[in-house]
Amino acid sequence: MGTSEDRVGAPVTWDPVQYRRFAAERRQPFDDLLALCRQVPGGTVVDLGCGSGELTAELHRRLGAADTLGIDRSAAMLAEVPAGVEGLHFAEGDIAGFDGPPVDLVFANASLHWMGDHPALLRRLRDTVRPGGQLAFQVPANFDHPSHTLARSVASEPPFLEALGGELPADRGGSVLAPGAYAELLYGLGARPPLVRLQVYGHELASTAEVVEWVRGTLLTPYREMLGEEGYERFVTAYRRRLLGELGDRSPYFYGFARILCWASF
Ligand SMILES: C[S@@+](CC[C@H](N)C(=O)[O-])C[C@H]1O[C@@H](n2cnc3c(N)ncnc32)[C@H](O)[C@@H]1O
Repeated sequence: MGTSEDRVGAPVTWDPVQYRRFAAERRQPFDDLLALCRQVPGGTVVDLGCGSGELTAELHRRLGAADTLGIDRSAAMLAEVPAGVEGLHFAEGDIAGFDGPPVDLVFANASLHWMGDHPALLRRLRDTVRPGGQLAFQVPANFDHPSHTLARSVASEPPFLEALGGELPADRGGSVLAPGAYAELLYGLGARPPLVRLQVYGHELASTAEVVEWVRGTLLTPYREMLGEEGYERFVTAYRRRLLGELGDRSPYFYGFARILCWASF
């Protein structure tokens, strides 16, 4: 695609089974984002980066939409979407190229951090919201947690750096802005007032090793694509060792996960 706001090292090969292992924890921010949205009775909704679509179906039902379109670029995720719900559709596509006719709500839960240049991205997404409509998105903000920093640090050492061709996947933390910056951007785009919230979701995982299973479903996905199955498993083993060394092998393990929730109406 190649726009300035293009995806940043975003993988296509997602694993819906791995992603769903923490479905209960991952849905908490979805519920909170949905609670910020107004009903759209008989209206139109687009869910960008909809994944395997269970939450898109819920969005559709709970907001009373007539037509909801879920868009994702992973065929593996889309293969699992719910079928037969009236007014609910899915399509393979890239957020980078999304520019459909304006809708009542543009929603994106845990997907926009895979895109770069958020000021340009939000300007463009604002144009896909009809007058009086809403834009709602949630992005992770825990890129300074060891679960994230150690993945990059292990990947930047031999033999993984060589196997990655000398280049790490782009740091998605570099895409995500500070909460205040999102508020200013959305205000500048016409939201009166925008609503932006930083929230730490506290997840009590069975043990520290579960953090590895968590990030295997998301953060580590580009490494799998770049290293191939065998190289990836070696990488995960090295990462697990480093992570447990740093965080301690604890049971249970408290995983505090910061996220930014944004809602705007224009
Ligand atoms: C962490 S999952 C979130 C899925 C869903 N929104 C949820 O809350 O469960 C991120 C999803 O964004 C999709 N994604 C990432 N970059 C994308 C892009 N540039 N265009 C379309 N989908 C993208 C991935 O394929 C993945 O399914």
